[in-house]
Amino acid sequence: MRILVTGGAGFLGSHLCDRLVQNGHDVVCLDNFFTGNKANLTGLLGHPRFELVRHDVIDPFKYEVDRIFNLACPASPPHYQYNPIKTTKTSVMGAINCLGLAKRVKARVFQASTSEVYGDPAVHPQPESYWGNVNPIGRRSCYDEGKRCAETLFFDYHRENKVDIRVVRIFNTYGPRMHPNDGRVVSNFIVQALRGEDLTVYGNGAQTRSFCYVDDMIEGFVRMMEQTETVGPVNLGNPGEFTMLGLAEAVLKLTRSKSKIVHQPLPVDDPRQRRPDIALARKVLKWQPKVPLTEGLKRTIAYFRKTL
Ligand SMILES: NC(=O)c1ccc[n+]([C@@H]2O[C@H](COP(=O)([O-])OP(=O)(O)OC[C@H]3O[C@@H](n4cnc5c(N)ncnc54)[C@H](O)[C@@H]3O)[C@@H](O)[C@H]2O)c1
Repeated sequence: MRILVTGGAGFLGSHLCDRLVQNGHDVVCLDNFFTGNKANLTGLLGHPRFELVRHDVIDPFKYEVDRIFNLACPASPPHYQYNPIKTTKTSVMGAINCLGLAKRVKARVFQASTSEVYGDPAVHPQPESYWGNVNPIGRRSCYDEGKRCAETLFFDYHRENKVDIRVVRIFNTYGPRMHPNDGRVVSNFIVQALRGEDLTVYGNGAQTRSFCYVDDMIEGFVRMMEQTETVGPVNLGNPGEFTMLGLAEAVLKLTRSKSKIVHQPLPVDDPRQRRPDIALARKVLKWQPKVPLTEGLKRTIAYFRKTL
């Protein structure tokens, strides 16, 4: 198939491009390089079935393709808060442009949505039926509300124009090619530990997160795109819960770092707990994460040791 991946030079996008080319598809990767970079695509540049295009998804684009994966959007708070208006534009106009193209060329189109649509959830773990608890005017809103609006557009194009959509809600994912300065907790801790700096834990560190290794997530994307039982939304993530303090200690052990753990105030709107309910993904996609946290951390640490 011919497949377009927006945001394909980023962390998840580049792993997805690798996988799709490996599976024998022709891949066009479209990216404005805001948070992505060509180094993530080193193994693909020059490959006869891979094309890289510098383009911003807020401007329309046209490609004759069978599938569109829409991943373009900065995903970490410092990046999406850098230019919050642009972040909302990327989510909303990027969705409109992908959906318009999908309608025109009759492609199936996939949206990388997020657990952030649940906001600071009042229900644990979060099933897809939960509508969320989102602050519409806070610092995270440009991302959360942009992604919520993108989901709305996907379902309206589906209902009104019969566009063939797939929507997944991604929970925290980590692995090689994460941006070293993106403020996400796994990369933060690993980079701090490898540099011998203190590990910053926000609050008392009792807040929990769940972490999914990138290879598991990409497997979920591919299965979601190719099944025909549901258009989504389907949660993808690892339901194992870890406290931030526990994660910091695991990273210190695996890096054999002498860094110390220090505590800082909790950021505004920081969710206390977030964990996916993946019953639907288990049932429809026959999918569940396989890579244990310690194994995923080892692979990620090896990557950062090489690149830092
Ligand atoms: N990694 C996670 O844990 C996670 C969790 C939930 C959702 N997601 C979603 O998955 C997608 C990929 O996330 P990621 O972790 O790989 O982030 P990333 O920042 O590494 O990748 C995003 C990519 O999109 C590109 N991009 C940003 N704005 C663009 C624009 N206007 N036009 C064209 N390209 C643009 C960036 O340059 C980058 O290559 C995002 O949509 C994100 O919201 C990721």
